Amino acid sequence: MSATRTITVELGERSYPIVIGSGLLGGDFNLAEYVSGSDCLVVTNETVAPLFLDAVIVNLSGKNVESICLPDGEKFKTVATVESIFDRLVSAGANRDATIVALGGGVVGDIAGFAAACYMRGINFIQVPTTLLAQVDSAVGGKTGVNHAKGKNLIGAFHQPQIVLIDTDTLERLPDRELKAGLAEVIKYGAIADVEFFAWLEDNIEALISREPEALATAILRSCELKAEIVSADERETGRRAILNFGHTFGHAIENCEGYGEWLHGEAVAAGMVMATALSGIAVDDEDRLRALIEQAGLPVAPPHIDSDKFLTAMSMDKKVTNNQLRFVLINELGSAFVTSNYDEELLGQILKSAG
Ligand code: NAD
Ligand code: GLY
Repeated sequence: MSATRTITVELGERSYPIVIGSGLLGGDFNLAEYVSGSDCLVVTNETVAPLFLDAVIVNLSGKNVESICLPDGEKFKTVATVESIFDRLVSAGANRDATIVALGGGVVGDIAGFAAACYMRGINFIQVPTTLLAQVDSAVGGKTGVNHAKGKNLIGAFHQPQIVLIDTDTLERLPDRELKAGLAEVIKYGAIADVEFFAWLEDNIEALISREPEALATAILRSCELKAEIVSADERETGRRAILNFGHTFGHAIENCEGYGEWLHGEAVAAGMVMATALSGIAVDDEDRLRALIEQAGLPVAPPHIDSDKFLTAMSMDKKVTNNQLRFVLINELGSAFVTSNYDEELLGQILKSAG
């Protein structure tokens, strides 16, 4: 896929494009067109700024651009960091027509999006994701927020961007471990919604790991198409959107128990998908295929050692919990997922004990 491709997240008057291509940052792409006022604040971090900040400023040419550079890491995905963005907006005299541009991975995107959702009760924002995980998942769909010591992403808001601009060239600089973490979310889409895509991933996993541009672009495009379709149908997660959390009830608990940033989000989701599949009780063949693909992607297929009571307590902070009842995303077969509170408690106990 060498040509630039555009997918639309269909949300009525809040619809927006996801533009995917090579050479977009620092090139001719006019991002300024998506900035309604004259002021924008690029929110980035200390790792990403030296790589892409100058380039994105070129795309915003004609606007009054300032930037704020956050410390790098999941442990800084906090209310305190959001507050530092508010301070910067206030001291710059930013008003309601200011735009925040999130330049970085999912951590920067979630923090910056949440700041945009709150500042003056909501200002525009733009997502420029630079990790595979952010390009295929976190930058799309408008979930923004930060962590609490007791649980992942507990504080947040739905706030859709004006545009998601994905320059696939940014992945050339991404460390291997981060690329693999992004593949976990790509595999998730195949497992929950598209068995043909899952089979394509099985055939192309080596090409993806070795960063073949065509393979990466295809994986990003299909992932964004699937996410756009699901978000368009259920923006606020009143139903089907919850399937996007496959593996996440276990995964978020792993991230919390291990300390934010120790296990990368994608790594925790990978082990979480294997655990959720075991709880699903599906055909052994499908279970084996999912485990094998995760393993081939260089991702963990088992959680770290966590006491089962501690694991369960961490899972009880999951946002899908209703009436004090855990709910899980399970799969019937590869390509088909559902959400249920009707799961085998004994089997869950065994799965958690095997982790402890
Ligand atoms: P991240 O944002 O921490 O980025 C990973 C690392 O790569 C960081 O060190 C970052 O500075 C660096 N980096 C970013 N782009 C780079 C590049 N092109 N080259 C070199 N280094 C680069 O991690 P992530 O995996 O992108 O995002 C994980 C976060 O996303 C988690 O907090 C998770 O909860 C969140 N998330 C949110 C949603 C959502 O719908 N909002 C969905 C999935 C995940
Ligand atoms: N990453 C889950 C969602 O966007 O709904």
